[in-house]
Amino acid sequence: QLLKTQLSGDQVIVVSNREPYIHEKTETGIVVKRPASGLVTAVEPVMRACSGTWIAHGSGSADRDVVDAADRVAVPPGHDDYWLRRIWLTPEEEQGYYYGFANEGLWPLCHVAHVRPVFRESDWQAYKEVNRRFADAVVAEARGDDPVVLVQDYHFALLPALIREKLPRATILTFWHIPWPNPESFGICPWRREILQGMLGSTILGFHTRYHCKNFIETVDRYLEARIEHEHSTISYREKDTLVESYPISIEWPREDESMPPVAQCRANVVARLALPQQACIAVGIDRFDYTKGILERMNAVERFLEKHPEWVGRFVLVQVAAPTRAALDEYRNFSLRVQELADRINARFGNGTYAPIVLLAKHHEHDAVMELFRAADICLVTSLHDGMNLVCKEFVAARDDQQGVLILSRFAGAAREMPEALIVNPYHVEETADALHRAAVMPPAEQRERMASLRSTVREFNVFRWAGRMLADAGRWRLRARIEERVR
Ligand code: G6P
Repeated sequence: QLLKTQLSGDQVIVVSNREPYIHEKTETGIVVKRPASGLVTAVEPVMRACSGTWIAHGSGSADRDVVDAADRVAVPPGHDDYWLRRIWLTPEEEQGYYYGFANEGLWPLCHVAHVRPVFRESDWQAYKEVNRRFADAVVAEARGDDPVVLVQDYHFALLPALIREKLPRATILTFWHIPWPNPESFGICPWRREILQGMLGSTILGFHTRYHCKNFIETVDRYLEARIEHEHSTISYREKDTLVESYPISIEWPREDESMPPVAQCRANVVARLALPQQACIAVGIDRFDYTKGILERMNAVERFLEKHPEWVGRFVLVQVAAPTRAALDEYRNFSLRVQELADRINARFGNGTYAPIVLLAKHHEHDAVMELFRAADICLVTSLHDGMNLVCKEFVAARDDQQGVLILSRFAGAAREMPEALIVNPYHVEETADALHRAAVMPPAEQRERMASLRSTVREFNVFRWAGRMLADAGRWRLRARIEERVR
C-alpha cells in the first residue's frame, strides 16, 4: 500500500533478464514455474504490490507459442496483478549477450571467485544489441514521457543511458544485484568506459552494500571525467546527476495467515523421502549450481567435520539442493561434475549401503519443497565465496517460526553484515567451517532460539518492501527536484 502511495499513479516498468514466471509446455498442458533467482524472489512481491509491466527475456518459457500472440501475459496466474512482456532473443543473441558477455564476462568479473572472465568482441556486440532491443521495448511500453523504470542487474548495464536518450524525463532506478569490484579488477574489462557511461544514465544506482557503492564511485573516478560529490554520494557526468546508494535487498516476510506445515511433519517427510537416518542432524544447502556458491568448500568442511568428530558419522547428513543454471557454459558443467565427484568420494569414505553423509539433489525445487527442507533442517549452510546479498539465508530464517535451527553464513555474502547472529565463517577456511558445523550440531535449543529470534526480527523489519520503499522514496525526492528545476528553467 505504501509503495502505491509513493508512486501515486506513476507508471512502473521493470526490466530484468530472468522472467518471474516460466510457462512450460508439458504433455498435460502448460505448467507455470518459478525460477531460482534471488532477483526474482525479491522483485516479484514488489511488482505484485505496485503493478505495471515487467519486461524480461523469455528464456525459460520453452516455446513462444505457450504465451499469447501479443507476447504479454497477466501474472501471477489467477491473480493478474501485473503484465509480463517477454522479449524473444535469437539463439545467437542469447549466446552472446546472456551466456557470453553477461555470464562469462561480467559475472566472474564482479565476483571474486577466481574464475577468469572471458571477453569476446562478438559477445559485446550481442550485449549492446540486446540492450538496445530492451530499450525499444521500454519506450514502446511507456505511456507518457516520464515512467519509473526499474532496471535490474548486470545484464543491462547499457540500458539506463539508452532509455535516457529516448525518455529524458524518465526516473530510472538501476539495481545491481551482484557485487561491484575494485577499480583495478574492473579495469580489465575492455569496455569499462561504455559500461560506466551506460549505468550513469540512471537517476539512482543501487548496490547491496556501502562497500560496493564505494568501489563503483572509485571506478568512475578512475576511468571517467566525472564530478563526484562524496558527501552526497552523487556523480555528475555530462550534466546529469546519479545518486549512488546502498539498498540491502531482502525477502517478503510470510504473512501471519500463511500457515506452514508443522516442523515435525516437514522433518518426517524429508527423512522418509530421502531415506535419512531417523535421528539425523540435517544440514541443508540450497543454491543454484554456481561456482560462486562455495559448494565444494562446504563439502570439504563436512568431510573435515566427520573426520574430527567421528561420533557424527551415520547421524549427520548434508542435503544439498543444486538447481541447474547456465549449464550451456563449460565452467558450469565442469563445476557440477567436480561437485558430484567430491560428493561420491566423501560418501564412499563415510557412507555405507544405507547411509550417505551427502545427498546431492541436482534439480530445481519449487518454493514449497524448499520451505519443507528449511523447516526440516537443524542447520542451514550458506558458504558463498562471494555474493551480492544472498537471500537463501533470509528465507531460512523466515521459514523458522519455531525459532530453532542454526545458520552458518559466509562472511563474503552481503547478508553477513546484517546477520551477525549467524555463525559467520570464511568458506575458504575448511577447518573454521568444520568447527562451525560442530558448534551448530551441538548448540543448545535456548541459544538457537536467542540467535534465531534476533535474526527473524531483523529480516521481518528490513523486508523487501523496505528495500523498494527506500529506493522509491529517494526517487520521488529526485523527481520532485527535477520538476522544480524544469519549472525554474
Ligand atoms: C543471480 C543474478 C540474477 C539471476 C540469478 C539466476 O541472482 O543476480 O540476475 O537471475 O542469479 O541466474 P540466471 O542466469 O539463471 O537468471
